[in-house]
Amino acid sequence: MKIVVIGGGNLGAAIAIGIARFTSGNEIAVTRRNLETIRFLEADGISLSSDNRHAVQTADVVILTVKPYQVAAIISDIKPYLQHKIVASAVSGFSMEMLQEQLEVTTTAIRIMPNIAIQFGSSATCVTVKDNDQAVVQPFLSILEKLGSVVVIDEKMMDAATVLGACGTAYALRYIRAAMQAGIEIGFDAQTALAIASQTVKGAAEMALREKVHPEQLIDRVTTPKGCTIAGLNEMEHQGFSSSLIKGIKTSLNNIKGI
Ligand SMILES: NC(=O)c1ccc[n+]([C@@H]2O[C@H](COP(=O)([O-])OP(=O)(O)OC[C@H]3O[C@@H](n4cnc5c(N)ncnc54)[C@H](OP(=O)(O)O)[C@@H]3O)[C@@H](O)[C@H]2O)c1
Repeated sequence: MKIVVIGGGNLGAAIAIGIARFTSGNEIAVTRRNLETIRFLEADGISLSSDNRHAVQTADVVILTVKPYQVAAIISDIKPYLQHKIVASAVSGFSMEMLQEQLEVTTTAIRIMPNIAIQFGSSATCVTVKDNDQAVVQPFLSILEKLGSVVVIDEKMMDAATVLGACGTAYALRYIRAAMQAGIEIGFDAQTALAIASQTVKGAAEMALREKVHPEQLIDRVTTPKGCTIAGLNEMEHQGFSSSLIKGIKTSLNNIKGI
């Protein structure tokens, strides 16, 4: 497929690199107004452009990774070239209805919510597709499936997916940062502490993904009665570990919804 990413910022560049490195046979181009900061993408065979109209002319799929307030002006500029193409919007809080209002009926609109780990083929991507469009978007979904997990969800869950899957990367990294800082306090140098904390999170995630059981069952395998793990874990809970995470996730969701 020929895929054009409009908005080569944090997410747009990550999607382009993921497609370039983890899929084959696809052509990928990225647009933004200031190209100088993303010249490095050319090393992965990614084409760059500041001309959205020109870039989308031969595309099969146009991925939007710009800020919500930029969508209307960008679509109105390229609309004549989007007929019979797929527009996949990763724009947070921009509904399918708002998207379709901007597009011609001959354009297939879908919403995708990847996270930035798509660059490493490890995204947790949620997708909303209308029933009638399933067949036409399947080749594109097959590309996303090479870049991590893909879950098709009802659109009413898209804000929740944004929080759990996309914002979730930042929450997990904050855990890693805290574990790293604790690691330094108990004697490791910063690099070693970071390596151990990161790999431990990766290993725990691998266990959860493979075994698909309640995390507490896996925690039971690590906690010896009267041992150091349960002592530390309980102290974290006394200090509000799970509670602060749940409250933070709900606050992020309220923020997206403007509550
Ligand atoms: N970051 C994430 O992890 C993440 C995850 C899921 C969803 N999202 C969503 O993805 C969208 C982008 O987020 P981001 O963090 O990647 O923001 P970002 O880093 O600010 O990227 C947006 C990019 O859009 C470009 N842009 C602006 N106007 C343009 C135009 N007319 N034509 C082409 N490019 C244009 C900007 O570059 P120039 O100013 O140089 O044009 C900028 O690089 C947001 O809606 C966000 O909610 C982000």
